[in-house]
Amino acid sequence: MTSSTVLQAATTPTMYFVGVTTGKSSIMKVFPKWSDILGLGAQIKGYDCALHAPAEDYLAIVRHIKNDPFSMGALVTTHKVDLLHATRDEFEYLDPYALLCDEISSISKRGDQLRGHAKDPITSGLSWEAFVPENHWGNTGGHVLCLGAGGSAIAISVYAASRKNKADRPAKFITVNRSEGRLELLRGVHKQLDTDIEFEYILNEDPLKNDALMAALPPGSMVINATGMGKDRPGSPVTDNGVWPKNGLVWELNYRGELDFMHQAERRAEQDSLTIEDGWIYFLHGWTQVVAEVFDVQLTPELFAKLDDAASELRPR
Ligand SMILES: NC(=O)c1ccc[n+]([C@@H]2O[C@H](COP(=O)([O-])OP(=O)(O)OC[C@H]3O[C@@H](n4cnc5c(N)ncnc54)[C@H](OP(=O)(O)O)[C@@H]3O)[C@@H](O)[C@H]2O)c1
Repeated sequence: MTSSTVLQAATTPTMYFVGVTTGKSSIMKVFPKWSDILGLGAQIKGYDCALHAPAEDYLAIVRHIKNDPFSMGALVTTHKVDLLHATRDEFEYLDPYALLCDEISSISKRGDQLRGHAKDPITSGLSWEAFVPENHWGNTGGHVLCLGAGGSAIAISVYAASRKNKADRPAKFITVNRSEGRLELLRGVHKQLDTDIEFEYILNEDPLKNDALMAALPPGSMVINATGMGKDRPGSPVTDNGVWPKNGLVWELNYRGELDFMHQAERRAEQDSLTIEDGWIYFLHGWTQVVAEVFDVQLTPELFAKLDDAASELRPR
């Protein structure tokens, strides 16, 4: 909600969630449990912005966090690129991934410093490792087709390029986006990487063309829905007739919403031996990393397991 109540001075430590439909996110139920486990005594408030919102909306929340002592920080989703573009001058510190990827998912404070971190190359990587078998790309020769070139696509491709073992990174990474600006941004990020991955950029929003791109993938390829379609906006970037890569990996970045893309893959899962992953693990890694940054908590594997257990009890079925 962008109403003035969200931006009133907080009276208890408050973490913000900048998104599109924040009230529907599981974090609203999960955060109070995590606050108890971590002894934070904190609350969470959602701040909804329209897609590609005006700069004033992003400036309002960032300045509020900066100036209000009980406003501890925020997790940013969907608006990661647009928010940083609108508010860059407000930050005293941006981490190396934020500078490379030109986006932030974490806003935090240390002393007088307002800090922005791009956590997604780390958190998308942890999520990737949870379902992509070791040596998968060396064993299969599969490629990645990433539909959507926003903040998550940047993060996932940067993570893929960081994989040390050649068999753990795809030889080719194709990204499709409906507007040229995001593809340009992605190209700019990839130019700074020292990588042997062949990147391809395709300007398109026609699902039939996405079907054709998907049908041309080698077996073992990964298809990612990073468009937000099926949650932030209706539909799927591919049609019901899309041909999935045999033994392929299908990654829907969301875990809630209509999830049409994931359901399309599910209907072909058995015939095509698909491994299908939704966004729940990504959600957990994304939130735990940012909560740890905002509240200066040391996130150990044991603590992550506790937070995972508490959240999983509340997971929508
Ligand atoms: N599970 C999790 O914790 C988690 C973590 C990260 C992200 N996500 C989800 O993943 C989705 C993507 O996140 P993001 O941060 O990357 O969002 P984003 O920055 O808004 O990126 C979405 C991109 O997809 C493009 N797009 C939209 N419809 C398209 C279509 N039909 N064909 C081609 N491109 C299309 C958009 O193009 P335009 O620039 O033209 O609009 C935009 O560049 C969101 O729904 C987000 O909630 C979930």
